[in-house]
Parts: sequence; structure tokens; C-alpha cells
Amino acid sequence: VVAPPVDALGRPLRDLRISVVDRCNFRCPYCMPEDRYPEHHPFLDKHDRLSFEEIERLARAFAALGVRKLRLTGGEPLLRRELPLLVGMLARIPGIEDIALTTNGVLLPKLAEPLRAAGLHRLTISVDTLDPDTYRRLSGGRGEVGQVLAAIAAAERAGFGPLKLNCVVMRGVNDGQVLDLARHFRGSGHVLRFIEYMDVGTLNGWQADKVVPSAELIARIHARWPLEPLARGYRGEVAERWRFVDGGGEIGFISSVSAPFCGDCTRARLSADGKLYTCLFARDGADLRGPLRAGIDDAALLERIAALWRGRSDRYSERRAELRAKGDPKHIEMFQIGG
Ligand code: GTP
Ligand code: 5AD
Ligand code: SF4
Ligand code: SF4
Repeated sequence: VVAPPVDALGRPLRDLRISVVDRCNFRCPYCMPEDRYPEHHPFLDKHDRLSFEEIERLARAFAALGVRKLRLTGGEPLLRRELPLLVGMLARIPGIEDIALTTNGVLLPKLAEPLRAAGLHRLTISVDTLDPDTYRRLSGGRGEVGQVLAAIAAAERAGFGPLKLNCVVMRGVNDGQVLDLARHFRGSGHVLRFIEYMDVGTLNGWQADKVVPSAELIARIHARWPLEPLARGYRGEVAERWRFVDGGGEIGFISSVSAPFCGDCTRARLSADGKLYTCLFARDGADLRGPLRAGIDDAALLERIAALWRGRSDRYSERRAELRAKGDPKHIEMFQIGG
């Protein structure tokens, strides 16, 4: 048995985010902008991607090392065929207490029920705006706002509890629609969360002045519907939680630029081709697929993962200014590790 590892900064390993496919049916400008996106980008072939059996084996190893929470991501995770089968396999792993999935929602009307039946606990759906033209723009011309509303309805019908609804805010793009979003989802029982636009990957042409700091959004919403802060839900939670004083429910803010939360970061990320990334902003991942396919035994697999975690010292968001000033060139792309 290998002891649950702690990294070089004292952080345990608690969450595993698993990207199941690097393709997406959207082209959000903050992630895979159509125009800067290499035209013949080689997405992973079926053989390059981990099989469900390989994902399950790795998830079991991570669970044995302390992981309690899994989140399935992409690209767009619902593009992976037979996804409910994988959820069912993961739901049976001892130690796993929570399985969630982040999606743009387009394929959810067909999949919400089977995913729920397979054991998925929670869903997060991206909703960047309710304005039809802005929605088209933010999906790279691939989605309609009606689809995301249908996705939310399908998730409710399938019995998913309060949903988390993610909105990436970009100044001059959708920041004018923040109050509309707040108004729409107040009182819905779901938790709308505004995410500061981040410099993930290399394609989105990030500029600091496009970031709308959470403090500014909180002030704007508070002026219309008074807010009060709530306590953190759990150690390492990325969102700051607030509630409407009038009983309109909870709303959240993810301030990864203005108030980084690396100190409590317990997240590991697995790409669809089986590389382990110890940070959303990592340059490289450590290959786990090779050893798996070469027949590594459980003890050696656990020791390999534990050693990678013990060597982890990432805290990019806290060092952003310094690292960007150095011209930090290479980063994994958002659609390869799912945020
Ligand atoms: P729960 O708290 O379990 O519901 O999940 P979550 O909020 O961690 O998951 P979600 O995928 O909804 O995260 C929201 C967004 O926060 C992500 O898509 C990222 O944009 C951002 N985020 C999550 N984890 C990290 C992280 O470790 N570092 C940074 N910089 N951003 C993160
Ligand atoms: N900055 C902040 N959030 C982002 N996401 C994707 N790219 C970025 C970025 N550059 C969000 C998506 C989704 C989650 C997977 O990550 O909108 O909510
Ligand atoms: Fe948009 Fe998510 Fe697709 Fe990236 S992976 S383009 S954020 S829907
Ligand atoms: Fe964790 Fe890296 Fe995000 Fe910091 S920047 S919270 S270390 S993933």
C-alpha cells in the first residue's frame, strides 16, 4: 500500500478531473477560438484516447491515493460515446463520493436521464449569456441559447439537484448581460457562477483588461439585489459563495485572476490521452497511458502517481504576473484538460 501523497506545498490529492475527449461542438473564443485554431489540428484518435477500462483503472488508483471526487470534462464530454457506461464503472469505485460533469449542454436532452441512472451526482452547465446573438458569438456560431435552456430543463427533469451554471465573463463581450443572468437564475434553485476570464492555453489572446474582477461584479449585482457572503462549502472550493439577502438563493464567483486559490488546490487533471497534469497551466503532463499499456502492476502504478504528486509545486495563478513577464511560452490548452 502506498500512503496518500501530499505535494511539495503540503496539499493533499482530493479531486481528479478526467477529460474524456478533446473535441468540442463549440468554438468558444476564450477556449478554442475558430480563427486562431489550427485548421488541421490533430484531435486524438480513438486509439490515442484512454479506453473506459483504462480510465477506470486509473480512477481506482487515484481513489486509493485519496481522491474522493471525480469530474468528467472535455472538450465536450458528452461527445464521448457511451459515456453513461463509464459513469457506471466509476460510480462503483470504493472511496469515490462524488461524480460531476461539466458540459455546454447541447447533447444533454438525450443524455441527462441515462447519466443520472448510471450514477452521475452533479451537473455543471456553461451559460455565458442569455442574449441570442451573444450566445451565438460565444459558442463560435455553433450553439443557440434555446439549447442551453433546454439542457437545464432536461437536467431538472432527470432529477439532478441544484445545478451549477458557469459564466465566463469577458469585458466588452458579455459583461453587459450579467444582471440579466442574475435575474433569470435568481430563485431557480440553481447556482449561477461568474468565472474570471483566464489566460489558459495559448490560443485565446488573453489580455488582462478583458478580465472583469469579481469585486466589480459583486458590487454591480449587490446594488440591484443586496448580497451577503456565505461560508466556503469545503476546503479548496474554487467559488466564493454569496446569497441574495431577499431569499433569491445562492450565487458564486470564481476569482482565479484577482484572488488565486492555489494554496488549497487539491486537483489533478487527466487528459484524454492519459497524461497527468498537476496544474491547469502546466506545460507538460506525465504519461500514464504508456505504463498502463506496458502492463504496469497496481503497486508500481500507485507509487508512480504518488511520486508525481509529491513532486508537485505548481501555483501558476499566484505567480501569473512573474511568469507572464518571463514570456512563459507553452501551456496545455483548456479543451485538452477541461478547465
Ligand atoms: P465543484 O466545486 O465540485 O462543483 O466544482 P468546480 O467548481 O471545481 O468545477 P467547475 O468545473 O465548475 O469549475 C469551474 C471553473 O473554475 C473551471 O471551469 C475553471 O475555469 C475554474 N477552475 C476550476 N478549478 C481550477 C483550478 O484549479 N485553477 C484555476 N485557475 N481555475 C480553476
Ligand atoms: N477562462 C475562464 N474559464 C474558462 N472556461 C473555458 N475557458 C476559460 C477561460 N479562458 C470555462 C468554461 C467552462 C469550464 C470548463 O471552463 O466556460 O465553464
Ligand atoms: Fe467552449 Fe467548453 Fe468547448 Fe472549450 S470545451 S470550446 S469552453 S464548450
Ligand atoms: Fe491549482 Fe494551478 Fe489553478 Fe493554482 S493555477 S489553483 S495550482 S490548477
